[in-house]
Amino acid sequence: MPTSHPTTILIFGASGDLTRRKLIPALYNLYRKDRLPEGTRVIGFSRSEYSDQKFRTHLESGLKEFSPDTYKQDLWDTFEEKVTYEMGDLTEPEDYQRLIAVLDELEEEPTNHLYYLAIAPSLYKRAIANLGKAGLNKEKQREEGPWRHVVVEKPFGHDLESSQDLNDTIHEVFNENQVYRIDHYLGKDTAQNILFFRFANTIFEPVWNRNYVDNVQITVAESIDVGHRGEYYDKAGVLRDMFQNHLMQLLSLVAMEPPASFDANAIRNEKVKLLNAVRPIQIPDTVLAQYDGYCSTKGVAEGSRTPTFAALKLNVDNWRWKGVPFYLRSGKALNRKVTEITIEFQKPPHLMFGPTDCSDFSPNMLSLCIQPDEGTHLKFQAKVPDTEQDMRSVDMEFHYADVFDDINLPDAYEHLLLEALEGDPSLFTRHDSIEAAWKLIDPVIERWDDRSTGYLAAYQPGTWGPEEADQLLDRHGRVWRIGCGTHEKTITPMI
Ligand code: BG6
Repeated sequence: MPTSHPTTILIFGASGDLTRRKLIPALYNLYRKDRLPEGTRVIGFSRSEYSDQKFRTHLESGLKEFSPDTYKQDLWDTFEEKVTYEMGDLTEPEDYQRLIAVLDELEEEPTNHLYYLAIAPSLYKRAIANLGKAGLNKEKQREEGPWRHVVVEKPFGHDLESSQDLNDTIHEVFNENQVYRIDHYLGKDTAQNILFFRFANTIFEPVWNRNYVDNVQITVAESIDVGHRGEYYDKAGVLRDMFQNHLMQLLSLVAMEPPASFDANAIRNEKVKLLNAVRPIQIPDTVLAQYDGYCSTKGVAEGSRTPTFAALKLNVDNWRWKGVPFYLRSGKALNRKVTEITIEFQKPPHLMFGPTDCSDFSPNMLSLCIQPDEGTHLKFQAKVPDTEQDMRSVDMEFHYADVFDDINLPDAYEHLLLEALEGDPSLFTRHDSIEAAWKLIDPVIERWDDRSTGYLAAYQPGTWGPEEADQLLDRHGRVWRIGCGTHEKTITPMI
């Protein structure tokens, strides 16, 4: 996709938190690194009243707050010249005509448009329909552009039906190749590294299957609680907020078949194939829980049964993974923030050292640490020196911070905005992948919502979740792993 034309980024809902906290710091940082395409300008559009200068000052304070290490007054002064503001209501078709007049005045040559919907999900359909009515979706039928891209933030619907409905509306106005649905986990360097780790090396892929792997675990733990987001969260819950998107995307990256190329659709085809191979999730394979004190959060309904933690056991019915359980868990108010994928390998079939019973034996484990201590751990057995047959598990570690010490890992939004500007949709979720994920998560929510089947466990903030999550693995003699260690009980600090 050519970037030879200048680009106007139109941020709808520009006075909101996302613009100040993420979008402008990401664009500023691209500019600082000289990676923002030449001729890029930003127009903020929303209902609040701002002059250009007041809007810029509002954004500058956001940059100082959320990206303080990168703020430089002189750099900001040149960057902010690219930013202007237009007041308007995205539900009013006439306001789009005013916007067109502004664009006509500013744009002296054919210009690409990136429409960023930083707005409440309830407004997506109207904003998209209005963009269509105003003709702002139309690309010239020339290879050289200019293009029209639309960026949509999660949540993509609140269930399968509403996500299909949203996708239908989007497709009435934009072609799929104009649509960039953001799952910010895909913008994390370490999540992207999963594919490089698997497919740019030869030694891991031969053992990445049911013949060698005992189980796979994905943990996305957060130490923060619901905070000031009670009203949104109480309607969403952990399954919609984290599983349908971030955890399903991590699952597909770790379990998919190798694509033939790094082309966006080649990758996305394999991801959706994987999600379609996941067996429908059974209620006994689910644990849902709520932390003590959640119900007193502002915006949360009295006696709410919204889960803030979930652990699921999934099966992937294909040749590679048949019989290998995938354990996924995520929650708020947990012991600490950590996102990690652990591949636990099978134990050796026969142990000739020490006791022949290998029930306490620690198997090989490989952990891909997505955040915060980004890196990789490989755990294996070593002979304890000066003993006859004693063994101990040792850890071979790679930390991004040690190896790439001169490179700060960029914020996910930097990657994602750059890719959307360059027209590479690899890191964005395609409509079929979103629908496949809803097909898996929807029935869990539905069956669980039915009070006769839905059991809600409880856990103390600061722990690793409810005991029931341990029991989910314990039934099959397994334990949750973190950093290639074991934390046997949810209340035990991890190793
Ligand atoms: C968001 C969820 O998508 O991801 C939040 O809505 C969650 O509830 C956040 O806190 C976690 O993202 P990260 O990058 O901090 O792991």
